[in-house]
Amino acid sequence: MTGNPALIAEIRRVIAASGGRITFERFMDMALYHPQHGYYTSGKHRIGTQGDYFTSVSVGPLFGRILARQFRQWHAQEVLEFGGHRGQLRADILAAAPDLRYRVIEIGDPIPEQSERSGAESDETLRGNGQQPPSSAISNIVFSNEFLDALPVHRICGANEVYINTEFTEELGPLSDPRLPRLPDGYRSEINLRALDWLADISRRLTHGYILTIDYGFERADYFAPHRHDGHLQCYHRHTKNTDPYQHIGEQDITAHVEFTSLIELGERLGLETVLFTDQTHFLLQAGEADIEEIVQRTAGQFSAERNAVHQLLHSTMGRAFKVLVQRKA
Ligand SMILES: C[S@@+](CC[C@H](N)C(=O)[O-])C[C@H]1O[C@@H](n2cnc3c(N)ncnc32)[C@H](O)[C@@H]1O
Repeated sequence: MTGNPALIAEIRRVIAASGGRITFERFMDMALYHPQHGYYTSGKHRIGTQGDYFTSVSVGPLFGRILARQFRQWHAQEVLEFGGHRGQLRADILAAAPDLRYRVIEIGDPIPEQSERSGAESDETLRGNGQQPPSSAISNIVFSNEFLDALPVHRICGANEVYINTEFTEELGPLSDPRLPRLPDGYRSEINLRALDWLADISRRLTHGYILTIDYGFERADYFAPHRHDGHLQCYHRHTKNTDPYQHIGEQDITAHVEFTSLIELGERLGLETVLFTDQTHFLLQAGEADIEEIVQRTAGQFSAERNAVHQLLHSTMGRAFKVLVQRKA
């Protein structure tokens, strides 16, 4: 095991104090979000060329421009972006839709109550757009890009859960939460209970509007397909992918694909209508057809950053691997 010695010592102390082992979920939580030494909380550059991996935001402003167009189409008044990191996407979206009220919620930030459109604040928010929609059409948006895949996951092996001991060796033990499923013998996978808790919390707070979730992932049948018997955990360190979460502890990203069917089913139980579930290519083509067509025509036959962005977002693996879920609260 390798990584930040201060973080490793702190995780070891917690394991010892917990009777000699902790769940993988607790380990992942500390590796990524320990208040001083966690991968995301230690204040170092993590995304982009200087960091460990790229996201759709790293590709350039086109992603934000298309999202701004979609938010306008939904008559968005206020956007809450979860896991917005250093606010690059917020900047891209506001460059295209400056009238939007837009807040980034990062780890540890309190979640503000969503406001109904009323009074001076809302008038200011919508100032200058001339044609204001009727207030019944105005919606609030909860948005995230690659947020759920960064939440700590439980690792399950058959009927057991994966625990970590002070040597950072995995041991199997009983399931730590009654909501965790048993999997077939020898089959390993990840369960993201925090994503479900987050959706339940958000759906309670949202008065009316859309929840737009973009992330790596699959429907349940694909997620638990027989050939995916080792699960979906991936780690990123200096733009190199690996599957060992016990190296570069605190210095590499740890992520797991999202199982979307559970989010859809939970949403429906909570009264959220499933508006759309598709891949990023189809979502961007639908939401950003005008922007994409304009770029493709204007840059025909050229090498250009904009043309490359279209290719990256739609036609590289990003286009297929990222799924887009839109849920609505009426
Ligand atoms: C994979 S990064 C994605 C960053 C950005 N959305 C993008 O696409 O470039 C995940 C982000 O989620 C944040 N995060 C993790 N848990 C969170 C929580 N409970 N609330 C808010 N943000 C959280 C992390 O700090 C990190 O910035």
